[in-house]
Amino acid sequence: MARISQNRRTFLRILALLGGGWWFLGRYLRQSGTREQRLARVADADIPPRGALVYRNERFAIVREAGSVYALSLVCTHLGCTVNVAADVLRCPCHGSVFDRRGNVRRGPATRALTQLRLQRDGDYWLVFSRCGDHHV
Ligand code: FES
Repeated sequence: MARISQNRRTFLRILALLGGGWWFLGRYLRQSGTREQRLARVADADIPPRGALVYRNERFAIVREAGSVYALSLVCTHLGCTVNVAADVLRCPCHGSVFDRRGNVRRGPATRALTQLRLQRDGDYWLVFSRCGDHHV
C-alpha cells in the first residue's frame, strides 16, 4: 500500500514538472515572438513634409505623407537586400522589386509588403520600434 502511494506521489511530481516546463516554454516562446527593439529616437522637426528621413545603416525610413507619419523597414521581403528610397517608390537593387511609398508591392519578385515598424510619439520625438524577426539590421 505504501509503495502504491509512493509511486503515485512520484507520478504526480513528474506531472507537475512537465506542466511547469510546458508553461515556461510557452511563456518564453510568446515573449520571444513579441519582444521589441527600439531602433531610434527621431525629432519630429527632422522629418520633411511629404518626404522621408532615411536611416540607411539601420535599414528603415520614417515617412511623412498627407499628415501621417509612419516608419518602414527597408529590408526587402524577397531576399533581404536594402531597398533604396526614391521620390515616389522604393526600389530593391538586387532583383528589381518596387514598392510604393506605403511599402506595398508594385512589382516583384517580392510578394509581401515592406514591414511597417511601430512608432510611438514621445513629445517632440518619435520612437521607432521593431519586433524581433520583423527587421534584420
Ligand atoms: S532581394 Fe529585393 S528583389 Fe530580391
